[in-house]
Amino acid sequence: MASFIGRNRPLDRFTPLDPQSASEAKYRLPLKTRMRRNRKADWSRRLVRENALTADDLIWPLFIIEGEKQREPVASMPGVERLSIDEALREAELAVKLKIPALALFPNIDKQKRDERGSEAMRDDNLVCRALTAIKERFPELGLIADVALDPYTSHGHDGVMIEGEIVNDETVHLLAQQAIVLAQAGADVVAPSDMMDGRVQFIRNTLDNKGMNNVQILAYAAKYASAFYGPFRDAVGSNATLKGDKRTYQMDFANGDEALREVALDIQEGADMVMVKPGLPYLDIVWRVREEFGMPTFVYQVSGEYAMIEGAAKNGWIDGEKAMIESLMAFKRAGADAILTYFAPRAAEKLAHDA
Ligand code: PBG
Repeated sequence: MASFIGRNRPLDRFTPLDPQSASEAKYRLPLKTRMRRNRKADWSRRLVRENALTADDLIWPLFIIEGEKQREPVASMPGVERLSIDEALREAELAVKLKIPALALFPNIDKQKRDERGSEAMRDDNLVCRALTAIKERFPELGLIADVALDPYTSHGHDGVMIEGEIVNDETVHLLAQQAIVLAQAGADVVAPSDMMDGRVQFIRNTLDNKGMNNVQILAYAAKYASAFYGPFRDAVGSNATLKGDKRTYQMDFANGDEALREVALDIQEGADMVMVKPGLPYLDIVWRVREEFGMPTFVYQVSGEYAMIEGAAKNGWIDGEKAMIESLMAFKRAGADAILTYFAPRAAEKLAHDA
């Protein structure tokens, strides 16, 4: 042993350098703190790890289509398919098995059923309502989240009613409340307004309560940005082809951060049970600020374009997709998110169960 320090420190036994060597003595820095010590082995890294990701953190979005035994690949989202209700039931069973707490459902309805006002959204036997009822009946323990917005139902692809080129706020809010009612009656445990109209959370809350549905939760897409990262989703629900213009008169400007806090504050005042930030990875600063400021259950949506980027690169062999998936999901936990909507949900849950 070269020095008394070495004798008293069993760790020195692991030093890869020859303690006698001149070079070690010559180059050893007099560092009291070496951050790498805690990283030297897996057991140690596990002990000092600050955040954890489990299946409990995941919400799985599913795209629903008409028919039976139908599974249609979504070209821009490798590995994601649109499913007929019977196929969605199989995925629901898998979700229960993997301990994923909840699904979020999105319909892709026939073109002929889309109109100016999105009337199909308010019908109590529409596609997503039938899917909700079927899944709730078979798997009552599985949480069901239903999007409240008109875009899968409108001929122009917008989330609200368009009058002379304008997406009108207050009329849209009345329709959204009716949509929320049919979704809740069909079996949705949570309604999730994703439309970004003003005052919709309060109006939906009042309407639900007046119908005696005061246990239905509201997950508000509170800070939702006008984002290029929704492209593949619009393919999946078929609104890309129909969408006229963009959504910048109602979704947020991605240059703004403080405004997100005002949006979230309003939705909380109006009665939101959980708030959401969307998209995810490019908006981690917003997730962090919302969690810090309000301490509310804060969800984040890792949207279709984020999924497509990771999967696209992985498919080309440019990154390790599995690792990038877990790294991106853990980043949400580090930023303070309570739950994550992600198309990776089943794969992540499977990997977490396997690695545990
Ligand atoms: C509809 C809605 C969108 C998403 C969720 N709900 C698209 C949009 O606002 O244009 C995007 C989800 C994703 O990209 O994965 N209001």
